[in-house]
Amino acid sequence: VGNEMWGGRFAARPDAIMQEINASIDFDKRLFHEDIDGSKAHAAMLADQGIIGREDAAEIARGLEAIRAEIVAGDFAFSREREDIHMNVEARLAEIIGPAAGRLHTARSRNDQVAVDFRLHVKGAFQAAEAAFGRLIEALLDRAEEHADTVMPGFTHLQVAQPVTFGHHCLAYVEMAARDRSRCADAITRLDECPLGAAALAGTGFAIDRHATALALGFREPTRNSIDSVSDRDFALEFLSMASIAAVHLSRLAEEIVIWSTPQFNFVRLSDAFSTGSSIMPQKRNPDAAELVRAKTGRINGALISLLTVMKGLPLAYSKDMQEDKEQVFDAIDSLAIALAATTGMVGDMTVNVAAMRAAAGHGFSTATDLADWLVRELGLPFREAHHVTGRAVALAESQKVGLEALELSALQTLEPRITEAVYAVLGVDASVRSRTSFGGTAPDNVRKAVADWRTRLLSA
Ligand code: ARG
Repeated sequence: VGNEMWGGRFAARPDAIMQEINASIDFDKRLFHEDIDGSKAHAAMLADQGIIGREDAAEIARGLEAIRAEIVAGDFAFSREREDIHMNVEARLAEIIGPAAGRLHTARSRNDQVAVDFRLHVKGAFQAAEAAFGRLIEALLDRAEEHADTVMPGFTHLQVAQPVTFGHHCLAYVEMAARDRSRCADAITRLDECPLGAAALAGTGFAIDRHATALALGFREPTRNSIDSVSDRDFALEFLSMASIAAVHLSRLAEEIVIWSTPQFNFVRLSDAFSTGSSIMPQKRNPDAAELVRAKTGRINGALISLLTVMKGLPLAYSKDMQEDKEQVFDAIDSLAIALAATTGMVGDMTVNVAAMRAAAGHGFSTATDLADWLVRELGLPFREAHHVTGRAVALAESQKVGLEALELSALQTLEPRITEAVYAVLGVDASVRSRTSFGGTAPDNVRKAVADWRTRLLSA
């Protein structure tokens, strides 16, 4: 048997190892819809331009739809000998419609074919991610609204810093997810150019209409430079960059869920639906979903570095190195999708332990800054001096093993004689969060307003 694909030039079949390193069909079959859509648009354009006959184009379209149906039904015999999705589809087309199949590849190369297929796929992935970020934002907004008044400790260095509201904490993640979402929209505007018709790298002498195929495939316009068209993978790198940043955000929330759901913190409880048990320790409820979300970040960040490294130093235009773009991106698409879905699920699922959060918010002298601010506001102390007085109050409370609010007035007055009974109003955690009304601050009314603002913004987006 000769060489099925390159019979003209090649007498022998590829070595088994050559086939193994070269064949991409095992993973690029995922592009079958895009490949068929791209080929249909190309064939229709070729017919409109009088480059191939109308009947041949109609046969090609019919055959391609038959192939799509076979693949969807699981009846398609993918072949490694036919290397990739492009050759698999074309060879099957010849089996179904005969010689007219040979006209499809006029004025086209696999280089622009794979570029258009992959771009379409990544565009779809960006759109899906954009919608998934929207669902996460909705889930976070619901919790933020519900817990606008729920006081929890805010942390720096994972040590209690100042009381905040759980609603405000949720809104911090809304900000992150909204930036991730907008990165999708930004990237789509840049990738929305169609490389089909760049052919191998130089363009073609056939009178093709690249604007027509671009439009038919839902792109804004054709790419401008044929060499760049077949050598550019920025759209894939942008997806991986967006996904990496988003995965970092998700890993931070996942980490907090892990911490919050420990018996020591006991801030949230995940239901049975989002927990796993231990095979040996009957008491355990493990937050495996959160841990796996945290871990997906490793794969996604790895994919970014992997593709950056593949692309680095590649001379123009196409080199087969670029076939190594797909597995990384496909894995990142899937990892991001499941991480987003699991996070959205956990955000909606978790039961918030309001009492535990509130109790913890009062630990660690969390209203010390409120005391210092009171000394500045009511007694006119410079903040540095107020900081010093408050430090001594904390030391005193620590030695008595009580909170600031439990110190006797007379004790406070030994530190600063002008302190009055009124100071106790600012030493409670509720008063503390209510006072944080500066724009972007944690006060419950701010949180309610921020939720409402986000809802309007999402509606208009
Ligand atoms: N399977 C190839 C890829 O994914 C398609 C393009 C092949 N082009 C070529 N000149 N060998 O990149």
